[in-house]
Amino acid sequence: MSKTVLISGGSSGIGYTVSEYFAKAGYRLLWISLLEDEMKIAKSKLQEEIADSEINTLEQDLCLPNAAHKVYDWVKENNWKIDVLINNAGIGVYGHIHEIDMDQELAMINLNLINLYKMTRLFLKDMIHKNKGTIINISSNSSFQPTPKLSVYGATKAFVSHFSRSINEELKNSNSKVKVICVCPSAIRDTNFKKAGKMENLKTFSGLATTTSKEVAKDIWEGFLKGKDFIISGWKMRILYRISAIIPYKIQQFLVRQEIKEV
Ligand SMILES: NC(=O)c1ccc[n+]([C@@H]2O[C@H](COP(=O)([O-])OP(=O)(O)OC[C@H]3O[C@@H](n4cnc5c(N)ncnc54)[C@H](OP(=O)(O)O)[C@@H]3O)[C@@H](O)[C@H]2O)c1
Repeated sequence: MSKTVLISGGSSGIGYTVSEYFAKAGYRLLWISLLEDEMKIAKSKLQEEIADSEINTLEQDLCLPNAAHKVYDWVKENNWKIDVLINNAGIGVYGHIHEIDMDQELAMINLNLINLYKMTRLFLKDMIHKNKGTIINISSNSSFQPTPKLSVYGATKAFVSHFSRSINEELKNSNSKVKVICVCPSAIRDTNFKKAGKMENLKTFSGLATTTSKEVAKDIWEGFLKGKDFIISGWKMRILYRISAIIPYKIQQFLVRQEIKEV
């Protein structure tokens, strides 16, 4: 294996579909997820699809405070050199702020924000040292504007977008060859995310700008090859993003209210 990609949440959803592209291109895959059994099943499936693909797995709850260091130590112990890090694992917690269990939201903050921050810091240092490597941080279209009933989720993703894009500008300004790509998918119809977050009934998952895990993975792969900094996935969201820049705030919030209605 000439190159290595480390993907959090690689065994399902967009983590899995993007893994297919990297495996086809000959990358060694390193997956970190919550459930070892699920990783075993996904590993067999991918190896049936793409013979010779090398997949190494680490069962790790990325909500735990020392998780990122454990992942970093695992990589070092095995002497793997990370060419691409994809911080993809994430969850959503839906509801009115005063009704949501605070521990659930804190777990989400740890996974979506703290862990992503730590993983980025740890692996970026090595990449800068070698002047080589890419970090792909999965944010969301929820980072574009306030998201009622997804207030903390949206805030974690606003952090991911701002943090990733700021670091990338820093790297560009210092002529580094290292890149941090920020990816903002719209609502994805076919992953476990909506079920895990009890959001199956939200209109946004059957609304105008939905996408699929296949389309997101294709956008990520093509954006990565083209050296893009900021990827909005899929095509309907890209159009809406441009339009939303000229829409007054009140109308934006009216549209958001339609998206979070239960159907
Ligand atoms: N789906 C959407 O509509 C949507 C839209 C915009 C952005 N996104 C973002 O896209 C990313 C991937 O979501 P997805 O739609 O592919 O969802 P998914 O199918 O639910 O995948 C989430 C992945 O994260 C892993 N994960 C969850 N909790 C974890 C934990 N505590 N420790 C380690 N791994 C954990 C899961 O592992 P297990 O399977 O082992 O639990 C799974 O592999 C997330 O960051 C999400 O916020 C999703």
